[in-house]
Amino acid sequence: MVELDYLGDWQRTHLNGALSVAEAGQTVTLMGWVGRRRDHATATFVDLRDHSGFVQVVFDSARGDGAAHAKARPLRSEYVIAVRGVVTRRAPEAVNPKLATGDIEIHADELRILNDAQTPPLPLDEEKSSTLASEDVRLKYRYLDLRRPTMQANLRLRAQVTATIRRWMDSHGFLEVETPFLIRSTPEGARDFIVPSRLHPGSFFALPQSPQLFKQLLMIGGCDRYYQIARCFRDEDLRADRQPEFTQLDVEMSFPQTETLFALVEGLMAELAKLRGIEISLPLPRLTYDEAMRRFGSDKPDIRFGMELQDISEVVRAADFPPYQAALEAGGCVKAIVAPGKADYSRKTLDDFADWLRKDYKAGGLGYLKVVAEGPQSPLVKSLGEETAQAIARATGAQVGDMVFIVAGSNAVVAASLGALRVEIAKRERLFDPGQLAFLWVTDFPMFEFDPAERRWYAMHHPFTSPREEDLPLLEAGPERWGCARAQAYDLALNGVEVGGGSIRIHRADVQRRVFDALGFSEQDARQRFGFFMDALTYGTPPHGGIALGLDRLVMLLAGADSIRDVIAFPKTAQATDLMCDAPNVVDPAQLRELRLRLDP
Ligand code: AMO
Repeated sequence: MVELDYLGDWQRTHLNGALSVAEAGQTVTLMGWVGRRRDHATATFVDLRDHSGFVQVVFDSARGDGAAHAKARPLRSEYVIAVRGVVTRRAPEAVNPKLATGDIEIHADELRILNDAQTPPLPLDEEKSSTLASEDVRLKYRYLDLRRPTMQANLRLRAQVTATIRRWMDSHGFLEVETPFLIRSTPEGARDFIVPSRLHPGSFFALPQSPQLFKQLLMIGGCDRYYQIARCFRDEDLRADRQPEFTQLDVEMSFPQTETLFALVEGLMAELAKLRGIEISLPLPRLTYDEAMRRFGSDKPDIRFGMELQDISEVVRAADFPPYQAALEAGGCVKAIVAPGKADYSRKTLDDFADWLRKDYKAGGLGYLKVVAEGPQSPLVKSLGEETAQAIARATGAQVGDMVFIVAGSNAVVAASLGALRVEIAKRERLFDPGQLAFLWVTDFPMFEFDPAERRWYAMHHPFTSPREEDLPLLEAGPERWGCARAQAYDLALNGVEVGGGSIRIHRADVQRRVFDALGFSEQDARQRFGFFMDALTYGTPPHGGIALGLDRLVMLLAGADSIRDVIAFPKTAQATDLMCDAPNVVDPAQLRELRLRLDP
């Protein structure tokens, strides 16, 4: 056991990573964690780390009475120490150009050992982070994982982002308002977390999936322009870019024009990009939903690369190939993408793609044509005929050396499968600059979406979204026309990720009623679920609209991280658990009794 010291009256004078030759000759007091350590017979070298970086400290037995050196010998990784010493230029042969503080070292005179540490269960050296312990270990010991410079940089970027947001929104006349966490269960599609009420046994609160209704009520309440950096809760299945609790920049404004809102968000995105030294040119590009689906097979296309979907239905219509005929007769389509220079994909790669698209996207099959000097080649050529194969290559602009991929089926299946394949090939072949930020507005979303499993229509965004004014009559035109109704809804995509979504809202009680009707809510249903809100609409509701931006996703993309978990201090695992606190967990039976809850075994 090493003997520990108290901090006493020592005051830190500098951050370790901020020191340079400018401080050479000064006596400094530094604090932090012991990183790498090297023991020589007459000197001990320690990398002293804090959030700003690290600096090399030398405990030399020849310095002073050698006491500091003797005291430093038992230091181990992650011990917490305070050091007093002199900033000294390194000898030329000892300069480390890879290190920000590589020109200097600290010649230590005094050491205080403030705490010891067990051997950490995960390596904290950045160089080792690629071989880093599994994410489970990182999350179980998150407080150690957070010491890694990458995690520190991510958290600091996140704080810069929220500070920039507040500055931007405040300077544009937006009022920051907090809305409640304990609310009534709302119907925004995904699932609510519910909270039992002790004072009202048998009754439950829900945690908000978003502040949607509250921000609309704030507009009715005359707040005019609102924002909040709001925590949201959704009990959904998780993915790399989804968490059960996440943060939105939530925005709403009265008397809005979409253009005003877009300009506000675009200006903010440009400010955020600057935090990474990236200039983005404004205005941001826009695509309608229909065009995005047609050209990219996605409502959040990654536009950093081409490989657009091309409709070859007319090229293959005459070919006597039953799968294509069946798709076209059923009202579907046949589309292709061209993978540049990829005619040499192996049989195994092609089979893997086909299996993946069959399994995940229900694609009937994945046709391909290798374009070589003699013409397109593949088993498909036999089925389609040489001429059609040539015509496909011509129509898609495929060059010698390219691979054409073809999927036939319903419009939805073709879009989803070729859209996914397009992204997969681009990632695999690095067809884009990972440092680029490609924002894109997607506008004119459909108002309704039919769920064949449940055999009912859903609001594609949420039921408070306004239809386009000219599409209002479609609400009464019967379900067969509902699919044509467009909403005043928009999403913001960034590098193929949906980073935001919003809409102009319904501000008239009669229109809200008509939309609820179309969604199959009976008068009673609607009253029961949102009576308070429908009442509010009747007291002079201004036209209003807004957006919510996924803060975690934005920071993830700005940081170049792979998962939103890397930009959240204490995230849940992909299984929606907290490995560090071991939550969710059972509660004491007495607690359940007090809530008058009994578990169904
Ligand atoms: P929406 O549901 O589209 O809209 O959410 C807005 C944005 O929030 C982010 N997001 C998530 N981020 C992490 N984990 C999740 N589980 C998650 N779910 C959503 C996405 C998304 O674009 N009330 C409306 C907004 C409005 O109409 O103003 C809403 O919540 O980046």
